Amino acid sequence: MIRQFGDTFVLDTENTTYCMKKLVTGQMEHLYYGKKLYIDREEDVLSLVEKHEFAPGNTNIYDSDHPQYSLEDMRLEMSSYGKGDIREPFIETVHDDGAMTDDFIFESAVIEDGRQKLSVMPCAYDDEKTVNELTIILADKNYGLKLELHYCVFEGRDVITRYSKLINESESDVRLKRLMSMQLDFEDSGYVFTTFNGGWAREMNRHDTLIYAGKHVNSSYTGSSSSRANPFVMLSHEDTSEDHGDCYGFNLVYSGNHYEACEVSSFNKTRYVSGINPQSFEFLIQKGEAFETPEAVMTYSPYGFNGMSQIMHEFVRECIVRGKWKHKVRPVLLNSWEAAYFDINESRLLKLAKAGKDVGVELFVMDDGWFGTRNDDKQSLGDWYVNKKKLPQGISGLCKKINDMGLDFGIWVEPEMVNVNSNLYKEHPEWVIEIPGKPHTEGRNQRILDFANPQVVEYMTNVMSDVFSSAAISYVKWDMNRIFSDYYSKYLPKERQGECAHRYILGLYSMMETLTQKYPDILFEGCAAGGNRFDLGILSYFPQIWASDDTDALYRVNGMTGYSYGYPMSVVSAHVSACPNHQTLRTTPLATRFNVAAFGVCGYECNLCDMSKNDLLEIKEQISIYKNWREVLMYGTFYRGRCGNVHEWTCVSKDRKRAVGMIMQELVQPNIQFEQFFPKGLEEQAKYKFFNRDLRYNIKGFGDLVNTASPIHIKQDSVLHNVISKFVTMPGECEEYTSSGSVLMAGVKLKQGFAATGYNDNTRYYQDFGSRIYFMEMI
Ligand code: GLA
Repeated sequence: MIRQFGDTFVLDTENTTYCMKKLVTGQMEHLYYGKKLYIDREEDVLSLVEKHEFAPGNTNIYDSDHPQYSLEDMRLEMSSYGKGDIREPFIETVHDDGAMTDDFIFESAVIEDGRQKLSVMPCAYDDEKTVNELTIILADKNYGLKLELHYCVFEGRDVITRYSKLINESESDVRLKRLMSMQLDFEDSGYVFTTFNGGWAREMNRHDTLIYAGKHVNSSYTGSSSSRANPFVMLSHEDTSEDHGDCYGFNLVYSGNHYEACEVSSFNKTRYVSGINPQSFEFLIQKGEAFETPEAVMTYSPYGFNGMSQIMHEFVRECIVRGKWKHKVRPVLLNSWEAAYFDINESRLLKLAKAGKDVGVELFVMDDGWFGTRNDDKQSLGDWYVNKKKLPQGISGLCKKINDMGLDFGIWVEPEMVNVNSNLYKEHPEWVIEIPGKPHTEGRNQRILDFANPQVVEYMTNVMSDVFSSAAISYVKWDMNRIFSDYYSKYLPKERQGECAHRYILGLYSMMETLTQKYPDILFEGCAAGGNRFDLGILSYFPQIWASDDTDALYRVNGMTGYSYGYPMSVVSAHVSACPNHQTLRTTPLATRFNVAAFGVCGYECNLCDMSKNDLLEIKEQISIYKNWREVLMYGTFYRGRCGNVHEWTCVSKDRKRAVGMIMQELVQPNIQFEQFFPKGLEEQAKYKFFNRDLRYNIKGFGDLVNTASPIHIKQDSVLHNVISKFVTMPGECEEYTSSGSVLMAGVKLKQGFAATGYNDNTRYYQDFGSRIYFMEMI
């Protein structure tokens, strides 16, 4: 709900309030964002207004009529350089006369039922609950510019989104150097700024920075939202924990270069801004034109990180993801990449698909290598016609055979890229991002097509339409495997080169919009060398994203925990792969690889044709368990528990009748036999049955300890050892308890863990990277 009391605006969601008031000087003063406040009259907010009788020493007063105000010490809804506020600005422009000072003051406000859509970028929506929009219109005192601050209140979601729009109503051009999507000023300091950083194959590691002074920036300049610094960030307090304390969560519906800065002023006030990265950004806005920012998402919860995450999860699931797959469980897929890399052909793919079908896979995906002369990553990107040597009957022939097996068929593409060694590059060098006549810095032997040029977007949209129409394709993995260098669009004039990176994203969005509208049944999965473009912009078109090229279970448990702060597990695609793992050479138990992947959109990416019978049996059982529980896993409420040497997750169905839990340990602690599992989110008084899977262990996992039980001596790794291990397995412990949710949540004491002595079916065999998955059913 949005209410106006005189100069005061109060924005309420079910459990939060956001409040601002026009200052006598005309700027909008930020008053509050946090837990719900009950406000009925303008006077009710007076205690929230900062009191100023004089401007602090060595600061500038805004104007002589109001000597008590220095903008440097005010909480503002937007700020700019030049009129006293020297902190991180919301907007920076260069006017026709060369001046760089903006002076925006309140002009009017509009409150609407429903929300406006952004004109060139995706934005959040709500089909089920009320959304209202407040537009504060500010006018620059000197230059004929208007600035709209938009606030969309997603009442039943506890989310408020913001975006802004600059309109040039002056007679001359203006050069826009930065325009943020949001600004939030707090009256105090000492916030913990949490960002999620990493790189290829190690995305989303949580970093906490306590800020009492200075500025901390989280940004990307890769041309994408990046694996280096995800646009999702949090602000909390030092004592905030997973389940208690204040937590603000922020994200941006944008896939390009982004910027989140947290700064503490000399008056101990914290400012947070977020938007398009101003680095090398410049947009020329001619008379009568406007520029709109991406939408920023913000939420607050007093219930710790989990409380905030759960709001974000529901918001992403309901208000960002759209289309047919929004509420549909996703098929269990088998992807050819780690099974065969570029070495694919029809017969190999069919064998792999058949092996997948036998264990319960539902969708077979042909990854890279099927087009042009794509035998390695040095060629053919851009040449999207089938390699007839590998697939003599084309995509349609292969697809038909896969469909006949009872499997759906999916394909990999990388539409934004081109290899210099390709026909497309030879025919259209002018369609590529590179500086004419200058050497180019390469990434993965490829270059980026200039999606700032509408002709390139149109061409590639048509090419992709041809590919998607060429067979019964029901899934597309849309990849993007390099970061930008040498930013330059040959389509744009030299004074507009600062627009290249942003216009690229607009071109990308228009292509994604056309193709997802044209192929509404296709399940699209985003990918950018794994998680180099994992953001709400992509999720506005594609309901899931390949989270990382790293399929190692130990990395994944950390990476998926990182993603889980801002994103629901229903958008995080996760695969079980072979061991030693291809990225880390680490060996983790097959059960653990599944237990971790099952919490995301679970698939397989390994050569099933070469796997042992026992492993295939295990995978078959995993897939059947997953199918039985995937509704809960994909759409339940996700809780993080411990996160350290022990990782704990629980996912509880909406009606709280079913839940799945996961515990994993990184390294074994010798002579520590005790462990417990803490489920979360169960109904306190309801009775649940708590149980685990039937597990049997390969005796080879016990090494030559086999001799403590065997009547004959068995040499470790001998032929005999291998033969016996095929027939003899060790029983796993059984955990079965029936009690109320409150009792289970007090900690389920697990069977004693193996520690040197003895082993029987009441012992928990729990090696390095060991894990368990537990099920809870209300009775
Ligand atoms: C990227 C993706 C991988 C795979 C390869 C194919 O690295 O992240 O999953 O598709 O490209 O070249």
